[in-house]
Amino acid sequence: MNNTIDRYAVAGNPVAHSRSPDIHARFAAQTGQTLVFNRLLCPLDGFADSLKTFAAAGGRGCSVTVPFKFEAHALAAHLSERARLAGAVNTLRFDEQGWFGDNTDGAGLLRDIEINAGRRLAGLRVLLLGAGGASAGVLGSLIKARPAEIKIANRSLDKAEALIATHRAYALEHGVTLAAARLDDCGQAFDVLINATSASLAGAGVPVAASVLAPGALALDLMYGPAAAPFLNWARAHGAEARDGLGMLVEQAAEAFESWRGVRPDSASVLADLRLQLDAN
Ligand code: ATR
Repeated sequence: MNNTIDRYAVAGNPVAHSRSPDIHARFAAQTGQTLVFNRLLCPLDGFADSLKTFAAAGGRGCSVTVPFKFEAHALAAHLSERARLAGAVNTLRFDEQGWFGDNTDGAGLLRDIEINAGRRLAGLRVLLLGAGGASAGVLGSLIKARPAEIKIANRSLDKAEALIATHRAYALEHGVTLAAARLDDCGQAFDVLINATSASLAGAGVPVAASVLAPGALALDLMYGPAAAPFLNWARAHGAEARDGLGMLVEQAAEAFESWRGVRPDSASVLADLRLQLDAN
């Protein structure tokens, strides 16, 4: 056991594929922070126990990934407003006064869209595909950017409606129209299309018609690598600007790093490096 160095980890199952250790090592080197960041594979029925052991051994916080984001929400003694709204936590900080749960996914996505891709969402029409955990994690941040409308299209309409119910008041506060729709009847010509379904993992095609894209629309998949390829190829073939989830991954990590260490890393250079790596593979 080593209590002299601050330890962080990405907790999940599976977790072997995670790029978080590499991203946080780069942030630490950039900012002169001394820390170690590892992978923490947690048994499906042993998330809480794994984290307690990790915290007792010098763990200061962790990123949380599939399938534990809801359990992390339940374990946190304190929650950020955005984590409460999402009902899910992707970042835990082991504060002495109790564990603090945050959700940086939405802020990461928003920063990738507005800063990295250079598209301000204010006044635009957004179509969000999917109503599972990934959509729940980002919807609050999308609303905060004040697009004119966010339509949530999902295979099961009731799940889209449930997601809208938990965000209705927040959307009203921000002057954003929220609506639920079926995938085969979700309207046309959106400025921004976000794929937060896991359809490609199931080997299914893109679940909407190309008419959902306005000319020159931004089409973003929350995944990256081979899982995102079918959606990105489809988007390009229909004239959209296609973007994968690598930027969101790096930006949500930068938000988490700042929350843990109090210093903002330079996410752009890390994203550029990772992009080169991904393209080379
Ligand atoms: P995640 O945490 O990745 O969001 P999830 O909570 O299981 O995972 O949600 C997966 C999302 O992908 C859901 O919106 C799901 O639609 P349903 O709510 O109808 O299940 C969507 N999805 C999965 N496979 C799909 C497919 N083949 N076509 C369309 N949508 C699909």
